[in-house]
Amino acid sequence: MAEFDVIVIGGGPGGYVCAIRCAQLGLKTACVEGRETLGGTCLNVGCIPSKALLNATHHLHEVHENFEKMGLMGAKPKVDWAKMQDYKQDVVNGNTKGIEFLFKKNKITWLKGWGSIPAAGQVKVGEEIHSAKAIVVATGSEPSSLPGVTVDEEVVVTSTGALSLGKIPKSMVVIGAGVIGLEMGSVYARLGAEVTVVEYLDAITPGMDAEVAKSFQKLLAKQGLKFILGAAVQGTERTKTGAKVAYKLRKDDSAHEIAADVVLVATGRRPYTAGLGLEAAGVEMEPRGQVKIDGHFQTNVKGIYAIGDAVVGPMLAHKAEDEGMAVAEVIAGKHGHVNYDVIPGVIYTTPEVASVGKTEEQLKAEGRAYKVGKFPFMGNARAKAIFQAEGFVKMLADKETDRILGCHIIGPGAGDLIHEVCVAMEFGASAQDLALTCHAHPTYSEAVREAALACGDGAIHA
Ligand code: NAI
Repeated sequence: MAEFDVIVIGGGPGGYVCAIRCAQLGLKTACVEGRETLGGTCLNVGCIPSKALLNATHHLHEVHENFEKMGLMGAKPKVDWAKMQDYKQDVVNGNTKGIEFLFKKNKITWLKGWGSIPAAGQVKVGEEIHSAKAIVVATGSEPSSLPGVTVDEEVVVTSTGALSLGKIPKSMVVIGAGVIGLEMGSVYARLGAEVTVVEYLDAITPGMDAEVAKSFQKLLAKQGLKFILGAAVQGTERTKTGAKVAYKLRKDDSAHEIAADVVLVATGRRPYTAGLGLEAAGVEMEPRGQVKIDGHFQTNVKGIYAIGDAVVGPMLAHKAEDEGMAVAEVIAGKHGHVNYDVIPGVIYTTPEVASVGKTEEQLKAEGRAYKVGKFPFMGNARAKAIFQAEGFVKMLADKETDRILGCHIIGPGAGDLIHEVCVAMEFGASAQDLALTCHAHPTYSEAVREAALACGDGAIHA
């Protein structure tokens, strides 16, 4: 039995970041992870492998759509799916090994196996029981199931199966127009599959600023994705060649079916806490299955903390990382804190979509007086040069104080551009503060500045 200051259960972005920060703060730290590699869902079967496939297929799309426009002539590349899968795996391996290196560097003990909490202050891994002054549950989430849908990870797949299909399907039905559905749907559409997205709501990407969501849907439709909105999926059935999806249109309750080689189920994720023994340990849970925590990430059982997808809040790797660092500081007696008002969200399609803060719909619902500064990438020379001038930046600021309340971007590099707005919001900046900041020309970031200018006396290039 080994004794630690902290044992973190789960080696994903929340858990491994927490372990590193704990070690940096001088705590004797262990991290329990049952997978062969560290990094959790995000690195192994989520954010990172999907980004590799998005990158490869984006280049393929560029070759087909834009190369000749730039005078780049000649034979077009064919897809070697096995090789693309190897590339994806190399990217994953490089990153998971990187975390292993960081663990060694920070003298963190990796307890290999699946952990459980037999009692407060104890973590069981295999047959061994280890003790710790603090335990951090960072066990993440798993795809949530849908009634009538049986996932086999070959024909009816979650994001995990979708990343490693045996071959490129000719057709794919995606259930759910959320982040996973649209990112993976984009990958296969670019690889030539006919992709149809079936979504329960009347708009894609629930929670996104409605104007951005509308534009986004139009751009994806132009890339060949088809959408069936307002459709409640009833179930799936395997066929000889693939599977069919039964759905009912909500407007008239009419029943329909659609068949495809592969069906991707992307209807959300749920906290993964099964087998931890939390209930036996007396840990209170939220009604929707998350671990209940207080403002310091501690559960009702002293010394047991929880972070990331296992607790309430957006299921995002960077939110988990921030909580991981903050809880480490709390455990070390410092003042860890996460500002939940400034957590960016990004969809890594082309164009990228990014947002932070309030949407216009939220501000309206709150009855806030606000102003909108919008700038189209059509007025941005860099965006035009790469054939991505169709999006826009939408800045929302308080009508009286000019303080930035939110920003929504659809366009090139949106996922990186959003962060200057995040920093501005952290500092309580006004739109004018951002507008008065010199931005290099020609960059995409000028569009952000122009949107800030549009909150005041007006954008220059619109
Ligand atoms: P999601 O919650 O983003 O979207 C699920 C969609 O499925 C919703 O639009 C919902 O209305 C729809 N839906 C639910 N039941 C349905 C039914 N019976 N018939 C038709 N449509 C139905 O969930 P998603 O895309 O599975 O992602 C899971 C989590 O992973 C999310 O929290 C997401 O933020 C996170 N994630 C984040 C990424 C990023 O930040 N780039 C990438 C991938 C995942």
